[in-house]
Amino acid sequence: MNSSPRIALVTGATRGIGLETVRQLAEAGVHTLLAGRNRDKAVEAALKLQADGLPVEAIALDVTDATSIAEAAKTIEDRHGRLDILVNNAGIGLDDAQLGTAGQSLDTWRTTFETNVFGLIAITQALLPLLHKSAAGRIVNVSSLLGSLSQHQDPASFIYDFKGIPAYNVSKSAVNAWTVHLAHALKDAGIKVNTIHPGYVRTDMNKAGDEQKGELEVADGARTSVRLALIDDAGPTGGYFYLDEVLPW
Ligand SMILES: NC(=O)c1ccc[n+]([C@@H]2O[C@H](COP(=O)([O-])OP(=O)(O)OC[C@H]3O[C@@H](n4cnc5c(N)ncnc54)[C@H](OP(=O)(O)O)[C@@H]3O)[C@@H](O)[C@H]2O)c1
Repeated sequence: MNSSPRIALVTGATRGIGLETVRQLAEAGVHTLLAGRNRDKAVEAALKLQADGLPVEAIALDVTDATSIAEAAKTIEDRHGRLDILVNNAGIGLDDAQLGTAGQSLDTWRTTFETNVFGLIAITQALLPLLHKSAAGRIVNVSSLLGSLSQHQDPASFIYDFKGIPAYNVSKSAVNAWTVHLAHALKDAGIKVNTIHPGYVRTDMNKAGDEQKGELEVADGARTSVRLALIDDAGPTGGYFYLDEVLPW
């Protein structure tokens, strides 16, 4: 690889785990594009990190909008000519747990998949030509332990009874399956593709009233994404991780 800094893009980076992932990648010396579907929010977040001296640049990107995706890809190509790291972090959870496993509306299923699965695939496809220009491309798909089919099937697992948000859970299973397929397709191209569980993290996604529930602060919740984004050529591809732990599919 040449000596210029690596270029990374993190989707859904205006807050939560994505914002912290940007901070940690930039602290590691990676020039990091902070992508947000709301341009003003992305610029505001990037300015704060720039004020801390970090190499961060804002970019507008809604992963459900084909025009926004095309414009972001063109901007990155014009400004940087390549991309080394893509962290597919943007995600939503819309299920109403009160409605139960079989009761979620098809609208909920479709909207969830539009962001968590189709949006993730769409931005990956759009940026793959730029990742191929990297000497060591890395893709990190931010999934969840709730996407693990074997854990859902295991009565001893604490997620066994956690089936009230099926659109979200199944969207993350789809992300895992896509990761396996893409890693295989890119295995001879030097691009490593992994899927991760960030932990149960105190973010807006886990808000109950004014409280963010979770076991981890965002600083720890971003660690797995950052670790897999920075793996060297000996690192894994096609894996499912939480920190150093390999998770069951
Ligand atoms: N928190 C956890 O415990 C946990 C556990 C397992 C997995 N995860 C996964 O970790 C990732 C980050 O979660 P989080 O907890 O940090 O969530 P969060 O605080 O709710 O943040 C979600 C981010 O995604 C962005 N986003 C939503 N739809 C988007 C779209 N169409 N295009 C671009 N960006 C979009 C949001 O942007 P706006 O600010 O514009 O809304 C926001 O920046 C998600 O994929 C989530 O499923 C989280």
